[in-house]
Amino acid sequence: MIYLKTKDEINIMNKANEIVLKILDEVESNLKEGITTKELDTIAENVTEKEGAVPAFKNYYGYPASLCISINDGVVHGIPSDKVMVKEGDVVSLDFGVQFKGYYGDAARTCIVGKGREIDLRLINVTKESLYIGIDRAQAGLKISDISKAIESYVVSNGFSVVKDYVGHGIGRSLHEEPQVPNYYLRGNDYILKLGMVIAIEPMVNEGTSDVIVEKDGWTVRTKDGKNSAHFEYSVAIAEDGPIILGVAEI
Ligand code: MF3
Ligand code: CO
Repeated sequence: MIYLKTKDEINIMNKANEIVLKILDEVESNLKEGITTKELDTIAENVTEKEGAVPAFKNYYGYPASLCISINDGVVHGIPSDKVMVKEGDVVSLDFGVQFKGYYGDAARTCIVGKGREIDLRLINVTKESLYIGIDRAQAGLKISDISKAIESYVVSNGFSVVKDYVGHGIGRSLHEEPQVPNYYLRGNDYILKLGMVIAIEPMVNEGTSDVIVEKDGWTVRTKDGKNSAHFEYSVAIAEDGPIILGVAEI
């Protein structure tokens, strides 16, 4: 079941995502060599509380923290730890969500600590750009697969690969709603985008193989070949004048 949202609901979701982006900004500004990922998680929790929101990921299917931090070959769902310190050159993916007034916000971005290697900077730029290219297809009358194909072809033409085991999703009163939003063309299930749909578009892009593994902790997803990975995500509403990037737009 795909839930279409009213303008009022989209306004609340815009606010929820403003909070998410504010927290990502705050975490990013603390992302310096030597800080532990646990300390970053605590910063995210503190700002969430101050904003009157609730962390969305904490205890979600048993996830043990609020922020997901995935470093270098980490793709998604990295668990913050007081034993993991951020270091110069790290590729750090930050994924965060909140619940606010009954609605969810969800966004992610990847940052480099310090200068970074050339290929990692390119990975990050291509992944970020692929998100915007996908968002551009988020128009009433087009299909989910139009978003998927646009992301995949941009990523592949730049020599990288898209992760297939994890996908974007509808979002609203639940963190994950229908439909799924793959970052690659998948025959079969497809949906026509309608006014009022809200979807989280979230390309996960690898420097090498698209294959991933899940660590023994049951959460941490890493690339199979150990090469680096990046992740960008926005929650996007399908509206009359085109896609609205929630949390960014003045609505
Ligand atoms: N941001 C992730 C997503 O988009 C959610 C993390 S899953 C959790 O689906 F379990 F860690 F919360
Ligand atoms: Co998401």
